[in-house]
Amino acid sequence: MVSWFSKLVVASTVRMPKWFVKWVSRRYVAGPQLSDAIVIMNRLSKENTCFTVDVLGEEISTMEEAQYFYDEYVSATKAIIENNLDANLSIKPTAFGLLIDPKKGFENIKNLVEMASKNDIFVRLDMEDHRVTEDTIKVVVDLHAQGLTNVGTVLQGRLFRTLEDIDALESELGPLADYRICKGIYLEPEEISFTSYSDIVSATNSSIDKILAAGAYCAIASHDVPVVKHAKSALESFGMGPGIDDPRENAGAKRNGKGNGYEFQMLLGVRGPMRRKLAAEGHRTRVYVPYGAKWYEYSIRRLKENPTIGSQVAKAFLMPWTNRP
Ligand code: FDA
Repeated sequence: MVSWFSKLVVASTVRMPKWFVKWVSRRYVAGPQLSDAIVIMNRLSKENTCFTVDVLGEEISTMEEAQYFYDEYVSATKAIIENNLDANLSIKPTAFGLLIDPKKGFENIKNLVEMASKNDIFVRLDMEDHRVTEDTIKVVVDLHAQGLTNVGTVLQGRLFRTLEDIDALESELGPLADYRICKGIYLEPEEISFTSYSDIVSATNSSIDKILAAGAYCAIASHDVPVVKHAKSALESFGMGPGIDDPRENAGAKRNGKGNGYEFQMLLGVRGPMRRKLAAEGHRTRVYVPYGAKWYEYSIRRLKENPTIGSQVAKAFLMPWTNRP
């Protein structure tokens, strides 16, 4: 259940002046411009990590807006290449038009994935709320069917359907299935999702186990100690770990820019010490780097979607030792 404190922080933050929200979010958002993201990535490269770049945006209402995202991602891809960055892309299918014009939305995504493929760059489809779970997975399957295998989806541990989705994707994509597994940011209805903290952690951990057993690539996206701890012991039970070639018999070949069957992913500005410790142990880590003109709308929407972020942000500021960037 969301605490009264989280609700209070969200209620206060959304009423705060824009400059204050900007000040709070600058830790979590690279800045309004692509050049801001490049500066951050160049700086964090020294921490032995790699990146996934996200152009911030709201769900769109016209296909003209989809063009903005397409163009911005094309620029981001070019910048990754020009700056020789160890980075891939994270995109939101609805920002490409999937809910407004599914055919054109798919074409937009396909064109970007094609461009990325020519440059050996991976594209991750972020998972949005349950209205688009099915469609997002279908886009990945359809792109693979068209020979574009440099694309994978995100699965949300909290959803009841996730274990079945892993089964279905295993039979569709075999060893080329490539997941980011996270708890899920959206507070979904209890008819379709776990709602308590312990159930969500346990379901997310079960998904990690299943992905690893399926031979698929597993990007563990969590800052939560019980999830990261579980992932490390699950990896060990499969004989996987730093410096070891993926020993799973059902695993796919290693892709350029990827770890040995797995990696850990964290958000910009969150739990840096944990990420640096994982990197020092030899694990591949990746930072999710959001940037874009729509940083304000994004910050407010994320706060409203999941008010628990409110208390995490407040905790990070009031007790900085609990969550250093
Ligand atoms: P939890 O929320 O328990 O956080 C553990 C601790 O981490 C907190 O106590 C706090 O210290 C710190 N922390 C976590 N989030 C913080 C924040 N925002 N600010 C400050 N401190 C914070 N979800 C989704 O539905 N679709 C998606 O595509 C993605 N993609 C994605 C990519 C990456 C790289 C990450 C790390 C996460 C996502 N998520 C996501 C979000 C994910 O589902 C989840 O909501 C958050 O990661 C928070 O869950 P944790 O497992 O980190 O645990």
